[in-house]
Amino acid sequence: MTTNTQPEVNIGLVGHVDHGKTTLVQALSGEWTDQHSEEMKRGISIRLGYADATFRQCPEGEVPDAYTVEETCGDHDTETDVLRTVSFVDAPGHETLMATMLSGAAIMDGAVLVVSANEDVPQAQTEEHLMALDIIGIDNIVVAQNKIDLVDAEQARESYEQIQEFVEGTVAEDAPIVPISAGQGVNMDLLIDAVEREIPTPDRDPDADAEMLVARSFDINRPGTTWDSLLGGVLGGSLVEGELEADDDIELRPGREVDEGGQSEWQPVETTVRSLQAGGDTVETATPGGLLGVGTGLDPSITKGDALAGQVAGPPGTLPPTHEQFTMDVDLLDRIVGENAGEVEEISTGEPLMMTIGTATTVGSVTSARGGEAEVALQRPVCAREGAKIAINRRLGGRWRLIGIGTLRE
Ligand code: GTP
Repeated sequence: MTTNTQPEVNIGLVGHVDHGKTTLVQALSGEWTDQHSEEMKRGISIRLGYADATFRQCPEGEVPDAYTVEETCGDHDTETDVLRTVSFVDAPGHETLMATMLSGAAIMDGAVLVVSANEDVPQAQTEEHLMALDIIGIDNIVVAQNKIDLVDAEQARESYEQIQEFVEGTVAEDAPIVPISAGQGVNMDLLIDAVEREIPTPDRDPDADAEMLVARSFDINRPGTTWDSLLGGVLGGSLVEGELEADDDIELRPGREVDEGGQSEWQPVETTVRSLQAGGDTVETATPGGLLGVGTGLDPSITKGDALAGQVAGPPGTLPPTHEQFTMDVDLLDRIVGENAGEVEEISTGEPLMMTIGTATTVGSVTSARGGEAEVALQRPVCAREGAKIAINRRLGGRWRLIGIGTLRE
């Protein structure tokens, strides 16, 4: 569905593989990333694993029954009123994609945790994703108990109780649990009602300098495009603050690694905003919330294949500093989340860690670790503010496992 309304809030879709995230987004928005038209792909489409949905309300009906995503009410004559447009950010359910989930979490204002009613609760990624929300500090959560069409009343109640027990003592403790069938479109009005209540559009300062977290970057030119019709590189991501307009000058940090007299050094990249795409439409001004495509004057070879993912963009001179190493205060989990998981051991000097900060994921080596703090030297620098939250992962059993949260010191 195309809409002229810019999305104003980003909602993560998290949960175990196959519990129905994609189906739910389809039910709410009538589209999914795989289905972007050829035209969109050629334009400044950003396939971020996202889709926008416009929530609407029938003017005559009672809430929550009156909530819908349709443009007309049940009678097919009366037009519905627009409540707001939200952007769903898909979080991959597969276990090895936890880092992607965490970088997506940086741009989520809230989340819908999808849990299947026909499986025991919790499944591995249900638990891991909820832990990640906890750690990143996303506490506006709605639990969607999906696939209720596959269970009888007693099983549905049992699964509901298991969910209640599972969220107890977590960030989702007070989250509403809404039984739905995404596949059959059942209880979508109740889900919209819960999202409207629990995941409000954040208050934002319209005068703040623009700050965009870049989650993806593209070369949208087809192979063989001649230089005179070549389009500049495209950035995909979300504005966390401020506004962006066409012709704005921006800089990207950390930028690019360049060779300066035999020494490599990271330098910010400067460019100009050429076009903006939000909510599937070209816009003059982009505002925070939702996912943006920013057409730039950059050589597309610089933006190709997500090369600039994890960077921060904004007016030159206003962005947070670039760190090649930093010290963080560390808060370790008691136990590693997931099956057969043991206790979390202290961080030790010399060990490699994978860290997610904003949309950036970087591997670093611990240069010093003592009582609740660690100093790390990064393979790739990051642009981040003091106080930024860092998801810390350790390599265990062949994959990166979340072991704690850091707070950037300097
Ligand atoms: P990943 O993206 O792989 O993590 O999976 P997902 O969580 O997006 O799940 P997806 O939406 O792909 O759904 C998985 C399967 O469950 C598909 O075959 C869907 O058709 C089915 N499914 C999803 N929701 C429902 C539902 O409400 N009822 C029934 N019966 N099937 C559903």
